[in-house]
Amino acid sequence: MQKILVTGGAGFIGSNFVRHVYRERPDWLVEVYDSLTYAGNKANLKGLEDRVTLTVADICDESAIDAAVARNDAVVHFAAESHNDNSLFNPWPFVNTNLVGTYHVLEAVRHHQKRLHHISTDEVYGDLKLDDPSKFTPETPYNPSSPYSSTKAGSDLLVRAWVRSFNVKATISNCSNNYGPYQHVEKFIPRQITEILEGRKPKLYGSGANVRDWIHTEDHSSGVLTILEKGKIGETYLIGANGEMQNKEVVELILQIMGKDKNDYDQVNDRPGHDLRYAIDSSKIIDDLGWQPKYTDFRKGLSNTIDWYKDNQDWWKPLKASTEEKYKELNR
Ligand code: NAD
Ligand code: DAU
Repeated sequence: MQKILVTGGAGFIGSNFVRHVYRERPDWLVEVYDSLTYAGNKANLKGLEDRVTLTVADICDESAIDAAVARNDAVVHFAAESHNDNSLFNPWPFVNTNLVGTYHVLEAVRHHQKRLHHISTDEVYGDLKLDDPSKFTPETPYNPSSPYSSTKAGSDLLVRAWVRSFNVKATISNCSNNYGPYQHVEKFIPRQITEILEGRKPKLYGSGANVRDWIHTEDHSSGVLTILEKGKIGETYLIGANGEMQNKEVVELILQIMGKDKNDYDQVNDRPGHDLRYAIDSSKIIDDLGWQPKYTDFRKGLSNTIDWYKDNQDWWKPLKASTEEKYKELNR
């Protein structure tokens, strides 16, 4: 593999993956394919220009995606509308990008017989009860809750159908909640850090008892690269790092690390249909492909992430006011 196409490579996880590949595979060339929505940012790829190019185009543009797939050896498909709250406000971009866009990616890899790795989420499985000891496995039935997660579930099913019906050489991974640098300030952890940096209080939805299974984005990247190189065609791999925490505990930890009183947060309106708990069983990628997460010290990872937002205010300040305006409309 010499040339890879990374859709959504100017977003949070996509750009961290591109940085990972740039470091770990110095003989590879990367073409980022990204329409630069509100969530995409050219600055995320700064310093990589000698081996990374950016094509600004939409995955729903049939001829543009076809041509980009044709000139690469493999495709890693991150491009998506990714935020649950936005999907409750206006589901259409989610249906368009996540379903129609993935269809165009699949048709292009089918025509040109290229390898595809499709990035998905643990949210396709719905949620677990707070007191349920079980975790999601590749056999858990799909049961998505929101417009976001249902369109991701639909995109996974399209990939499976294209593998079975047309012999497309694809793999899928479903990962849990990522954190780390370059995450948009609409998301939970960056929102709370930047609220505190701007002198306001963190905003916890409802009771804050909901559990998310946090993984550092570097571990997600190494998991994806492992599957791209060693994964078995047609298989689904779950990626997680045993990082379950209640939202309330995460907010308290952010406040503590930032030198504030751990109870100094606001409780705001809950998200409609708010999933209770996600938890990933990653034994398949560990046992079959030999992957292991490395960044499992959550306090350390969170502390480094807080430092990144402190040191990169020019990156997030331009996004902050419009993001909080949107939240005001949602009363959160
Ligand atoms: P993000 O919103 O930060 O980035 C998405 C990127 O896709 C942006 O650069 C955006 O410009 C681009 N994009 C959106 N629509 C496009 C279109 N029609 N054509 C071309 N580019 C388009 O998202 P993220 O959090 O980095 O998530 C990336 C992928 O990982 C998504 O597929 C998401 O479902 C999946 N995922 C995310 C998480 C998480 O915790 N954030 C966890 C598991 C899986
Ligand atoms: O599980 C993987 C998924 O994780 C990905 O597929 C999604 O793309 C990604 O956005 C994320 O979805 P969540 O809905 O879990 O992430 P979010 O950052 O929006 O919220 C995390 C939790 O924090 C969730 O329970 C809602 C809560 N929350 C969120 C915000 C923005 C708050 O309590 N306060 C907030 O201000």
